[in-house]
Amino acid sequence: MSIKILFLISIILNFFLLLFINKKKIKIFLNKSKIEEIEVSNVHAAFELKNISSNLKSPKEDAIIKSFSISQENNIVGMTSDYEAWIISTLSKFSKNIFEFGTCSGKTTYLMSLNSSEDTKIISITLNPNEINNVKKINQDNNSSYKNIKHESIYDKFLFSGTPQEKKIKVIFINSMDFDHLKFKEKMDLIFIDGGHTYSVVKNDSEKSFEMLKSNGIILWHDYVPGKTSASDVVKYINSISDIKKIYKIKNTSLCFYKNY
Ligand SMILES: C[S@@+](CC[C@H](N)C(=O)[O-])C[C@H]1O[C@@H](n2cnc3c(N)ncnc32)[C@H](O)[C@@H]1O
Repeated sequence: MSIKILFLISIILNFFLLLFINKKKIKIFLNKSKIEEIEVSNVHAAFELKNISSNLKSPKEDAIIKSFSISQENNIVGMTSDYEAWIISTLSKFSKNIFEFGTCSGKTTYLMSLNSSEDTKIISITLNPNEINNVKKINQDNNSSYKNIKHESIYDKFLFSGTPQEKKIKVIFINSMDFDHLKFKEKMDLIFIDGGHTYSVVKNDSEKSFEMLKSNGIILWHDYVPGKTSASDVVKYINSISDIKKIYKIKNTSLCFYKNY
């Protein structure tokens, strides 16, 4: 073999080696956020801070919530962080009609019930653990997100089951792809999209949410994390509509925010 060919082979091998070493950075670059970030104080006036002294600010009364944390030993799957949960809990204080795609353990559902007014109604839809085989992987759906749907569809009782907060909550076991949303057209003040993370499900849940949202209502999506494999379809879908819908990412969270002004 001539020196020239060996040299060419070594360049090609080095090229692939560089691709392999930098695969995470490349993935982040390809999936990079197209979404503008905002401070939580731009999401709602409840998050603005109150001056205590020259070097100390406190949350306002509106952002003081009833809360709980889930310990590591409790091994619950598919949850929001406590900071994200605080944002959702605060927004539920101002929401009479709330809709959630994806109940899972019911951590967020419980918090929304604990923090909303007595007459608030919360609907949460989720998959019945016995029927997850009905969920189909469609064309471009990300494999790891598809596997997660099965991994997270394991509960038929929830953290709020048997508590006084349960009376405000209606859980519907249904595949969101088959869910008839039109009876809730323009009814919802707050919608939390945290169901299946495959492209087909995120698209379905988002399109239905835009129709279910009241004027001035808010949609939050969970898991907008560029570079995270199981969240790549969430990022891809939100990026794909960012030219027609003004969606923001809330700083230091994986939450995206849309308001129907
Ligand atoms: C990430 S977990 C939700 C976590 C929950 N929102 C929380 O904050 O604690 C995802 C949930 O979405 C549900 N899910 C996934 N695909 C769905 C679909 N096509 N229709 C309805 N629910 C779905 C799963 O059954 C699971 O309960």
